[in-house]
Amino acid sequence: MAKTILIVEDEQVLRESLAELFVAEGYDVVQASNGKIAREMILQRPVDLVISDVRMPEMDGLTLLGHLRQIAPQTPVLMLTAYGTVESAVSAMRAGAYDYLLKPIQFDDALLKIQRALEYGEITRTQRVTTEILAETSTFHNLVGTSLSMSRLFEMVRKLSTVKSSVLIIGESGTGKELFARAIHYNGLTREKPFVPVNCGAIPETLIESELFGHRRGAFTGAIRDKVGFFEAANGGTLFLDEISTLPMAVQSSLLRVLEERVVVPVGDTRPRPIEVRVIAASNQDLEKMVAAGQFREDLLFRLNVVKITLPPLRQRKEDVPLLTHHFLEKYTREMNKKVNGLTNGAMRAMLNHDWRGNVRELENVIERAVIFAEGRDIGVEDLPFATGGMTDDVSEDLKEALSQFERQHILYSLKRHNYDKSETARHLGIGVSSLYRKLDELNIPKNLGEPGTGEEPAKT
Ligand SMILES: Nc1ncnc2c1ncn2[C@@H]1O[C@H](COP(=O)(O)OP(=O)(O)OP(=O)(O)O)[C@@H](O)[C@H]1O
Ligand SMILES: [Mg+2]
Repeated sequence: MAKTILIVEDEQVLRESLAELFVAEGYDVVQASNGKIAREMILQRPVDLVISDVRMPEMDGLTLLGHLRQIAPQTPVLMLTAYGTVESAVSAMRAGAYDYLLKPIQFDDALLKIQRALEYGEITRTQRVTTEILAETSTFHNLVGTSLSMSRLFEMVRKLSTVKSSVLIIGESGTGKELFARAIHYNGLTREKPFVPVNCGAIPETLIESELFGHRRGAFTGAIRDKVGFFEAANGGTLFLDEISTLPMAVQSSLLRVLEERVVVPVGDTRPRPIEVRVIAASNQDLEKMVAAGQFREDLLFRLNVVKITLPPLRQRKEDVPLLTHHFLEKYTREMNKKVNGLTNGAMRAMLNHDWRGNVRELENVIERAVIFAEGRDIGVEDLPFATGGMTDDVSEDLKEALSQFERQHILYSLKRHNYDKSETARHLGIGVSSLYRKLDELNIPKNLGEPGTGEEPAKT
């Protein structure tokens, strides 16, 4: 398809002859006699390239350029300039013009620049599209990640959408265990049915069975009415058993029985009730180790562990840090209705260097806090709670570099002063000759410096 060029030029003769030339070269051409008309035309229909004069009535070329950066940021602009207005061409380039064409127009030169500008426009367009696609494919049910490990896990969750097998999710605190459990539930056959999260570690030991399986009125002191357990509440859907490692052995046995027989018997009852529940269990403990230590039932682990998802800690997938950062930046600026542009390079570097013991949850908290303080500007290192810790390495690297530069200058100066005599120089510096040689090596100073034939003449004084 032919590319469309918009020519914005108040001199009618020049405009029309350019148009003729470009049409002859196979381009589609539209014309405007000033910036204002050009702006209207682009709002109606985008073009591939704009060639604009600088001085025009109504709206000049620079003002038009400003508008274009807003309404058509991907469209390259070539400025037309006469010899006397090269200055303005330069400021136009600073303001985002792709290049400029000098009047009188050299047609060959013009055609070449047009071709280049069009290619450039093509590239920026595809780049934008790829970034959009990337953002789309790396987000999955609120889960964000571009790292290979995360993409593999998203793929696994997709495959789980057609089955109801038990899933065991293992990962450090804050790695997204609950978020993954929800993704599995809402992406699968169960999405219309209940998702019931239960934190096993938060229920007093004596109440766990009645909470999970329900109880009959009068089953124990305080059981004043019948209670439906979490299993029944989740019927048809998903029961998310968080911190499964905290279940006492006795409850582990009851749980195993429920999973095997697919019925629950409420405490104080004798009638089994059929249940159809998918169990997703989560833990930040190594359950195999607990089995070995006799703290977790091996047969229950087998039952739960039909599919195992191991969530890598954030420090092992640092490539996800920028995407997560922008994800939460977007989330919190929207939620708190704050305007924060982004992060300074230093702040992003500090984010990448940080150790993230608290994983994604810690990163989320850091950004939430920074958004509050960085209202109206970029988030800088000073807005990050670990700023000094995270940046020390960089500072000391800079300092080291500065020191070795200083040392190098000092040694070169001393060598020169002592006519490149190594023993004299070493004595002057207060170090041994062998240490001086080592320094010369370290600092990349040639050892034969100042000797005949090296091009470096010994100092005359
Ligand atoms: N990949 C991710 N993309 C976007 N947000 C994430 C991701 N992983 C975790 N989060 C967010 O981080 C926070 C912690 O996640 P979640 O509660 O799922 O972690 P967890 O592993 O269950 O932690 P804990 O063991 O402490 O309960 C949540 O706010 C969650 O939305
Ligand atoms: Mg959790």
